[in-house]
Amino acid sequence: MTKTRSITTPIYYVNAHPHIGHVYTSTVCDVYARFERFLGRDVFFLTGTDEHGQKVETSALEQGIEPRELADRNSAVFREVLDLFSISNDDFIRTTDAHHEEQVQSFVQQLIDRDAIYLGEFEGWYDKGQEEYYTETKARELEFKSPISGQDLIRATEQNYYFRLSSFQDRIEQLYRDEPGFVRPEARRNEMLGRLKEGLNDVPISRTNFTWGIPVPGNEEHVIYVWIDALFNYVTALGLASDKETGEDRSRFWPADYHIVGKEILWFHSVIWPAILMALDLPLPRCVYAHSFWISEGQKMSKSLGNFIDLESLQGYCSTYGQDALRWYLVTQGPLGSTDADFSRQHFHDVYTTDLVNTIGNCTSRVSAMIGKYFEGLVPADPDPSFDGWADAVSVLVESSIASMEDFDLVGSCNQAMAIIRRVDGYINETEPFKLAKDPESMPDVGGILYRCAEALRIASCLLAAAIPERMEALWSAWNLDIEPQRGDLVTRAAWGGLAAGTKVEKVALFPRLEQAASTD
Ligand code: MSP
Repeated sequence: MTKTRSITTPIYYVNAHPHIGHVYTSTVCDVYARFERFLGRDVFFLTGTDEHGQKVETSALEQGIEPRELADRNSAVFREVLDLFSISNDDFIRTTDAHHEEQVQSFVQQLIDRDAIYLGEFEGWYDKGQEEYYTETKARELEFKSPISGQDLIRATEQNYYFRLSSFQDRIEQLYRDEPGFVRPEARRNEMLGRLKEGLNDVPISRTNFTWGIPVPGNEEHVIYVWIDALFNYVTALGLASDKETGEDRSRFWPADYHIVGKEILWFHSVIWPAILMALDLPLPRCVYAHSFWISEGQKMSKSLGNFIDLESLQGYCSTYGQDALRWYLVTQGPLGSTDADFSRQHFHDVYTTDLVNTIGNCTSRVSAMIGKYFEGLVPADPDPSFDGWADAVSVLVESSIASMEDFDLVGSCNQAMAIIRRVDGYINETEPFKLAKDPESMPDVGGILYRCAEALRIASCLLAAAIPERMEALWSAWNLDIEPQRGDLVTRAAWGGLAAGTKVEKVALFPRLEQAASTD
């Protein structure tokens, strides 16, 4: 049976404009999804938009339109961004989809029935003008006056639905102990463990001060808190609480293998979400992976500093360097670890030149040029396929590239593929086929060397195709290679000896050398 793999991005707020954060998370998920499809897995890659809540209601009001209209408009923008960056998601969920809303209500009803959600009372210091509650300490600090209007804060009570998060303290701690890989990377897991030690409180999961949301079943004055509504997207997209026949049965894709999220939304995903799933007796995701943030030119991104990497600047990089160059930079230099990553124009240029122009590009053009010059462009036969241990060495790198990707170590996976290419470069420098070729008697040796080089490059290109799909397809086409990732045969494709002698290879320039830090504006 084919193994399933499912991966999710956070669903994006429709009240913001798409920027590097959105493109980044979508791109890393895309690389994983493409690689896994090439491996023959049954993949489900989910993304979408988070459309309810007070902020959306307010900004719609400000624009004089209905929240629904604002949501429709901005959700469409996010969808276009996916196309623009060739993201291969399998579904795009909107929290305003009837299919989602109905299931959220059904899940919340189940939680009420199981007494995991209760109607409770909340008392606090309320700022009428701001529609906001303050804690006792904060209210005292403010001398019981609104910091905005100066009016007295009033003692108010409010009814809210609460989720009994506090009753999951032991089970969540147990989860962290039993599944050390549940939250990654390690530094983020430790952060969550630290917060867990402070003790869990019940969380309000409904609101009554606005209406743009999903009503609590049975009490329509309350709308479900946007975060609870949003978290359910991961299971409503799969129809887990659906009583309708919607065509394809997607239940096999739960639990998700990876929820990829930014570090600031990890608590919701790694504590509240598993507790909700426990309350529903649903299996838990295998891993919540929290990446860090992109900063820009050494500083936190901000519109006023002018270093904000928005859609336009990303498109600028794509048109100057090509889409694959942007993908490569995001994936290999991005903040998948526990520290923030700096996006800088100069660094982008240097990585482009070192990895793509000088390594992948140069090596493929060198090998195809020599095959062109000495063998009329036809891949020579290898007189001794086991010579110099190529088959073994490459298969070790292939295995570890695959294992790294399965473990969501995207950088590790790309590095193994790059190691194959660097080995080819080293081999050419060491064996100097261009010198050997001066002696006609050495031509079988030259043929052997060039076969091994071309074969190793072909295999590396298969491993790199998820990260830089467009350029690798260009290589396959120039080299007349019949490779199609959708066939799901990566392991066979990446086996040594797949390159047939006599294959016609054209010279190919994959990554043009560009002037120093060319302007991308
Ligand atoms: N709607 C919620 C998620 C609900 S998921 C059930 C949300 N949306 S968001 O649009 O604000 O965030 C999208 C993602 O972008 C988050 O994962 C966030 O971490 C990420 N990024 C926002 N700025 C970022 C950077 N500067 N760098 C990298 N990613 C960052 O949160």
